[in-house]
Amino acid sequence: MSSHPRQQPAVTVTRLHAMKEDGERIVMLTAYDASFARVLDAAGVDVVLVGDSLGMVVQGHDSTVPVTVDDMVYHARAVSRGLQRALLLVDMPFMSYAEPRAALANAARLMQEGGAQMVKLEGDALQVDTVRYLSERGIPVCAHLGLTPQYIHKLGGYRVQGRDEDAAAKMLADARALEAAGADLLLLECVPQGLAERITGAMGIPVIGIGAGAACDGQVLVLHDLLGVSPRLPRFARDFLAEGGSIEGAVKAYVDAVRAGAFPAEAESFS
Ligand code: KIV
Repeated sequence: MSSHPRQQPAVTVTRLHAMKEDGERIVMLTAYDASFARVLDAAGVDVVLVGDSLGMVVQGHDSTVPVTVDDMVYHARAVSRGLQRALLLVDMPFMSYAEPRAALANAARLMQEGGAQMVKLEGDALQVDTVRYLSERGIPVCAHLGLTPQYIHKLGGYRVQGRDEDAAAKMLADARALEAAGADLLLLECVPQGLAERITGAMGIPVIGIGAGAACDGQVLVLHDLLGVSPRLPRFARDFLAEGGSIEGAVKAYVDAVRAGAFPAEAESFS
């Protein structure tokens, strides 16, 4: 856990909800260690996500499936030491939340040992019981819909989700059910921008997009994509290092572009 007291005013769940109300865009970015966490925090990133994408960009696996709770605790603890202001969101890895009691035990580890202030889990309305179980016990939850990388072997590929009307209606219904169960944040990955806009308008909680268009309440990217060091840049990402000139400059350029509604552009979105 963090070895230093956080400066005030730190970003809280209440603050994120107020940002949605005020139409102020939320900036989220992944980090996996203390040094990058410090850079993100200083640049004004609101939410730092220790994503299980670390399985791919740090550990070199070809999916997020091999990532363990121990891995997440290790990286979350490192990131928490670099943060003063940003809220620390940590992914629950594959099968760590398959049923509510196990989810509670693992989320408690992420908070107590890793310093998480919110946990994220993937999946549709089937996760409603788990979200309610965690939320009623004081654990803020971010639900993740659309392309859910932990389901890669069921999905059969990293593809845009919710393109047909039935799938779109189901995603909207799932989002509503997860909010009603107590989710504090919703993340939409690789969703057509029109659908993401509909869902964002229907939710009382903030909606963060990645490959979901500019109408979401905020944006997230994987740090390695933003710095152009991923083997293949996804269409929805932008190499901000090219325009920022340095790591600090790249992160600041991303923060400014999200706040201004200038990222993602049309060409970085799906229809
Ligand atoms: O694991 C991760 O980094 C994520 C992002 C893709 C949002 O979930």
